[in-house]
Amino acid sequence: MRIEDWRAVSPDEAHRLLERERQRWLSALQWDPADAWAVVEDARRMGTVPGFVARAGGRIIGWTFFIVYDGVLKIGALEGDTADVVRRLLEAVLDAPETRFASEYHSFLFPGHSSVEAALARRRFVLDRHAYLELRLPPVVGARPALPDAALRAWRPSDLPGLVRLFARAYAGDEIARCFAPHGRIDEWAGYVNQLVRGPALGRFEPACSWVSGSVRDAHPLGGLLATWVSPTNLHVAQVAVDPGARGQSLGRSLMDAAIASAVSQGAARVTLLVARSNAAAVSLYRTLEFSERAMFLFGWRQRPTRVLRAGLAPRAATAVLQEAG
Ligand SMILES: CC(C)(COP(=O)(O)OP(=O)(O)OC[C@H]1O[C@@H](n2cnc3c(N)ncnc32)[C@H](O)[C@@H]1OP(=O)(O)O)[C@@H](O)C(=O)NCCC(=O)NCCS
Repeated sequence: MRIEDWRAVSPDEAHRLLERERQRWLSALQWDPADAWAVVEDARRMGTVPGFVARAGGRIIGWTFFIVYDGVLKIGALEGDTADVVRRLLEAVLDAPETRFASEYHSFLFPGHSSVEAALARRRFVLDRHAYLELRLPPVVGARPALPDAALRAWRPSDLPGLVRLFARAYAGDEIARCFAPHGRIDEWAGYVNQLVRGPALGRFEPACSWVSGSVRDAHPLGGLLATWVSPTNLHVAQVAVDPGARGQSLGRSLMDAAIASAVSQGAARVTLLVARSNAAAVSLYRTLEFSERAMFLFGWRQRPTRVLRAGLAPRAATAVLQEAG
């Protein structure tokens, strides 16, 4: 097996690779990542997204890519035909020169193989499983579905700053927020919400199925929900949160009811979402709404290993004990 820089792969070969991955997502998740993959492929061709392929007998048997942004290295894919391939690809990422620009490594993956989890655990990533939940919707026949709670209104572009602040408050100090805003900073939340509303990574944003509590003049909404289309008939609740001071009063449920009702009226066949299995309140909310688990995603993170010099040793001895922490 040879590990190669994926930027040298021909466009045809890359297309076949991404198309195979797209079909895997479509059949397992009913999620069409074509728009997101197109952005990745453009960046690969321009040489701005690093990654690797594993090749054996001329055939690609595994691939990975990653980005480094704001000190965080994010692994966007890690797939291989065998556990050994996955392990070797992960080693290649963690040995890549770009790691120098990161203080933390993240991966949010839909693993096709249990070996992804094993490889990340072996390199001491902290792992958190996220359930991909689905609610199948009945077709609307005749009557219009019930309108959402009067206290809610559809999202407007001017809600963006208020929702950024809401998400930062709602997840403050919560470890599960690391996959959205690695250090909980307001600029990280702004970047995340901007990407959700404007970029293709989480599907195509749907303002008509995204809901906010309170009046349009309210700069501090108590609840908000953002939804995207991940396929023409699959509405995805990409984020929902309620201010800590307003919890337990059915606002979370009202936001979800509104998203489901608006998905029905737009002809969606299902509503999906991702939830950390460790997020007890959210898991319980979705269970009461009769969502069921369809697949599992894996979030992993770790600090970049640092080289540690033991204090108080002479330089020669210190060199001898130079350790890789990871
Ligand atoms: C999850 C969240 C949106 C729930 O909002 P909420 O307004 O407090 O929820 P509701 O009052 O509508 O509660 C609806 C159901 O959720 C469940 N639930 C809510 N809070 C719960 C808690 N602390 N523990 C267990 N179950 C809980 C219950 O089943 C509840 O039904 P019940 O009232 O009949 O018991 C809120 O806790 C939150 O913003 N959390 C941080 C952000 C987050 O994790 N978002 C989800 C990402 S996937």
